[in-house]
Amino acid sequence: MTTAVYPGSFDPIHEGHLDVIKRAQMIFDKVVVGVLDNTAKSCLFTAAERAQMVRDSLGPESDVVVAHFSGLAVEFAISQGAAVIVRGLRAVSDLDSEFQMALMNRRLEPRVHTVFLTTSFANVYLSSSLIKDVCAHGGGVQGLVPAPVEVALRQRLERPGPRPRAEEEG
Ligand code: PNS
Repeated sequence: MTTAVYPGSFDPIHEGHLDVIKRAQMIFDKVVVGVLDNTAKSCLFTAAERAQMVRDSLGPESDVVVAHFSGLAVEFAISQGAAVIVRGLRAVSDLDSEFQMALMNRRLEPRVHTVFLTTSFANVYLSSSLIKDVCAHGGGVQGLVPAPVEVALRQRLERPGPRPRAEEEG
């Protein structure tokens, strides 16, 4: 049985992340999403909220395990019985930092291997930061994030609804 962990901030989860989770499920017997608790980044949502949004986005039928963790990702992987860390790659620009992280993780824990999965072309431009920025300025994020996340984002950013797009304006 091969277990893979997919660690991240998920602030919040978006369609690109879900794409990576689905691809990981095709390869590994068990997938554990690890939501980083003590991230140095200031998050819009708490770790518990981010983890719940991942669960809500996956739905009740999903057998993906969602947990939050603090400390090193490799320690989280070992605690879950995983020999694999999955990370998503959107573009070549991601590779620099991801490569650095993978090599550091290998140095920290040689039993854990990093596997990169590419997101589908439709999702390559997505990032949680961009989505939050668009939403904070009243832009629509429908289709970029799962429905429960869209609601949570709007509530947190106190915007009643997306502004109509230019072509929809009268
Ligand atoms: O979604 P993100 O913010 O790109 O995820 C980054 C994450 C959570 C994978 C990375 O920051 C991480 O693994 N943090 C846990 C602490 C750790 O293991 N640091 C050493 C990584 S080389």
